[in-house]
Amino acid sequence: MQDLTAFIRGLPKAELHLHIEGSLEPELMFELARRNQVDLPFATVEAVRAAYAFSNLQDFLDIYYQGARVLLTEADFQDLAMAYFRRVAQDGCRHVELFFDPQTHTDRGVPFSVVADGLLAGMAQAERELGITSKLILCYLRHLDEDAAFATLRQAEPYLDRIAGVGLDSSEVGHPPSKFARVFQASRERGLKLVAHAGEEGPPAYVWEALDLLHVDRIDHGNRSLEDPRLVARLAKEGMTLTVCPLSNLKLCVVDDLKVHPLKRMLDLGLHATVNSDDPAYFGGYLGENWTAAAGAVGLTREELVTLAKNSFEGSFLNEGEKAEHLAAIDAYVAQAD
Ligand code: HPA
Ligand code: ZN
Repeated sequence: MQDLTAFIRGLPKAELHLHIEGSLEPELMFELARRNQVDLPFATVEAVRAAYAFSNLQDFLDIYYQGARVLLTEADFQDLAMAYFRRVAQDGCRHVELFFDPQTHTDRGVPFSVVADGLLAGMAQAERELGITSKLILCYLRHLDEDAAFATLRQAEPYLDRIAGVGLDSSEVGHPPSKFARVFQASRERGLKLVAHAGEEGPPAYVWEALDLLHVDRIDHGNRSLEDPRLVARLAKEGMTLTVCPLSNLKLCVVDDLKVHPLKRMLDLGLHATVNSDDPAYFGGYLGENWTAAAGAVGLTREELVTLAKNSFEGSFLNEGEKAEHLAAIDAYVAQAD
């Protein structure tokens, strides 16, 4: 019998919760800082890594926005994306729906077009060279106001044929989904898919708002939904996909120990959970490491791993034909695995 890590590595899977700025490894951060003559508040790669001890989401965000300052040119964004794709190609990843935070860059004077063109170039290169497909999701920063989100949507207008959807990220508590109801409605009217971070640190009420006021197609994280049985029943009934991020939850102290991570409980409750990395350069692992760490800690069976893999494609924004091809590839893989 193949060991669990090898079985996981070969299992075709999609990543649905990945902030591309969160895949900036310290080595690339230094290289781009040198290339662009940006001062970093750290002397060495080791000093950067040593600073990655977080006690909550805000702790992390402060350092994550700092790191993003080295990203200035189209080539920077393309290199960032390609470094990520090369890494997850080794994890059996076949498709990615990646978040980007335009406001983090436009607020520093980097034009929206530089960010979008660079990422789109990296995505095209990954499809050509690695066979990994991808879609782009524009995230509104929830610590900023709705007018700023509307301005971002206007800047995105020329790119809407190449952007699959919009999301909501950054500091959750104190910035409920209701604050963005109108810009999500406007995004929906432009044919965009909708997702939102909810229930990572925020209460179950924020998940209800994401469903009822934003009309999201997926919930990012959603952990705290488990505190509300009526919400769990609603999510299960609607087959709502949750993009769960085990190592992120550990690093940001959403869980105290991976052994008590709710992933298995979510599956037992009939929730459509998926496994993702969130910000892999900051949280100690890419897609494959999230799968193996979570599977080992909560004791997932092969059957549950296959369910998670199928959930990742079923919950994606691929079309039905594409989903069917990926699901068939999973079945073929399982059939030949000994
Ligand atoms: N949560 C909220 N906002 C974020 C995250 C996260 O994990 N990563 C990048 N922006
Ligand atoms: Zn996230």
